[in-house]
Amino acid sequence: MSEKLTLSVIKADVGGFVGHSGVHVKLLERAEEMLSRSDRRHLLVDHCVAHVGDDVNLIMTHDRGVDDREIHHLAWETFEACTEVAKELKLYGAGQDLLSDAFSGNVRGMGPGVAEMEFVERKSEPVVVFMADKTEPGAWNYPIYKIFADPFNTAGLVIDPKMHRGFRFEVHDLIDAKKVSFVAPEELYDLLVFIGAPGRYCVKSVYSRELGEIAATSSTQRLNLMAGRYVGKDDPVLVVRCQSGMPAVGEVLEPFSRPHLVSGWMRGSHVGPLMPVGVADSAPTRFDGPPRVVALGFQISGGRLVGPQDFFADVAFDEARRTANQLADYLRGLGPFEPHRLHLEEMEYTTLPDVMQRLAKRFKPVEEEEDWSEESKIDA
Ligand code: 13P
Ligand code: 13P
Ligand code: MG
Ligand code: MG
Repeated sequence: MSEKLTLSVIKADVGGFVGHSGVHVKLLERAEEMLSRSDRRHLLVDHCVAHVGDDVNLIMTHDRGVDDREIHHLAWETFEACTEVAKELKLYGAGQDLLSDAFSGNVRGMGPGVAEMEFVERKSEPVVVFMADKTEPGAWNYPIYKIFADPFNTAGLVIDPKMHRGFRFEVHDLIDAKKVSFVAPEELYDLLVFIGAPGRYCVKSVYSRELGEIAATSSTQRLNLMAGRYVGKDDPVLVVRCQSGMPAVGEVLEPFSRPHLVSGWMRGSHVGPLMPVGVADSAPTRFDGPPRVVALGFQISGGRLVGPQDFFADVAFDEARRTANQLADYLRGLGPFEPHRLHLEEMEYTTLPDVMQRLAKRFKPVEEEEDWSEESKIDA
C-alpha cells in the first residue's frame, strides 16, 4: 500500500422499497457481494455497504487516489448489479440514478454522488460519514459552517492550539461551475454571503490551516442545464475527519442537535427540517420525509474501516427529532404555499410551464380595461 489512503463514498438510488422510502435488503446483499469480491481482488482495502432512506452508500478504502477509474467502475458495476435486483422486485425507480447505459471512466455527472478524500492515515484516524436522504448537497453548508467556523459550536476553535488558526473552505458555484476559497475566521462574512444560499453555493471541501490537510469533503457536483433547468442535485454525503487538530467527534455531531431547514422533501420540491436518526429509523415516511441524516463513525486502522458507530441512534438526539417533528408539522400546514413549497426555480417538479401555456391567452396587460364583475355572476 502506498503511503496515502483514499476514502471514497459513492452513493446512488437504484430503486426504492417501498416508493422512495427505503432500500430492500436484497440490494444491500448484492452490493456486499460485489464489494467483497473486489476486496478479494485487492482493489479495495476495506468497504462498508450502508444506506439512508432509499439510497445505497458504498464506503470504500483503497490506495488508488480520488477519481480512480477502477474504483468508479466498481461502484458503477455494483449499482448496475443492484439495479438488476431492483428490476426483478420492481422496486420504485429501479436504476433511477444511473443516467447512462454505459460507464465512461468516472461516475461524476452520471447520476451517483461522490465524496472522496486522500490522506496519510494518522496515529488514530476517526472519521464520520454523514449520509442524507430527501435533500441536496447545500444541506451541509450550515453544519459545515458550525463545525469549522463557529466557536459557539466548536470549542476547539478557541481552546485547541492546533485548531486556533481556523480552516479554509472551498465553495462551488453550482450554476456557473466555478470555485473559490475563503479562510475563516478572517473572511467569515464573505464566506457567509455565499454559503447562506445553499441552493447555488455549496461547500465542497474544508482544509485545516495548521495541518495543511483535508478535513472534510462533500458530494457536491456541478449541475447540468437540461431543458432550461439546472438538474443533478442529489441526496448528499459528507465525510469529516476528527480529533487531533480536527474538530472532536462531538463537535462534528453537535450542529445536528438543532435541525435546520433543507430543500428536497416530497418530490424534491419542498423545504423541511433535517432530522438526525439512527440507521434503523432512516426510512422517511411522512410526506416522504422529513429529510433524514445518518452519521456513521469509523476508526480507520491500516485502511480497515473499524465500525460503524451509529451516532444519531443515541437518545441525546431525541430532542432534535422532536424539534424536527414539530417543524415538520408546522410546515405541512402551509401545504402548497412557499416557503414550504420551494420557490419556482428550485422545484424538481413543476406544472407551471404547462399551466401557463394553457392559460396564456387569458393573461391580459394589467392596464387593459376589463370588467370581470358581470362575468363573475353565476346564473342560477
Ligand atoms: P483531541 O485533541 O485529542 O482530539 O481531544 C479533543 C477532546 O477532548 C474531545 O472532547
Ligand atoms: P429521492 O430523491 O430520495 O428518490 O426522493 C424522490 C421524491 O420525490 C420523494 O418524494
Ligand atoms: Mg428514490
Ligand atoms: Mg433518496
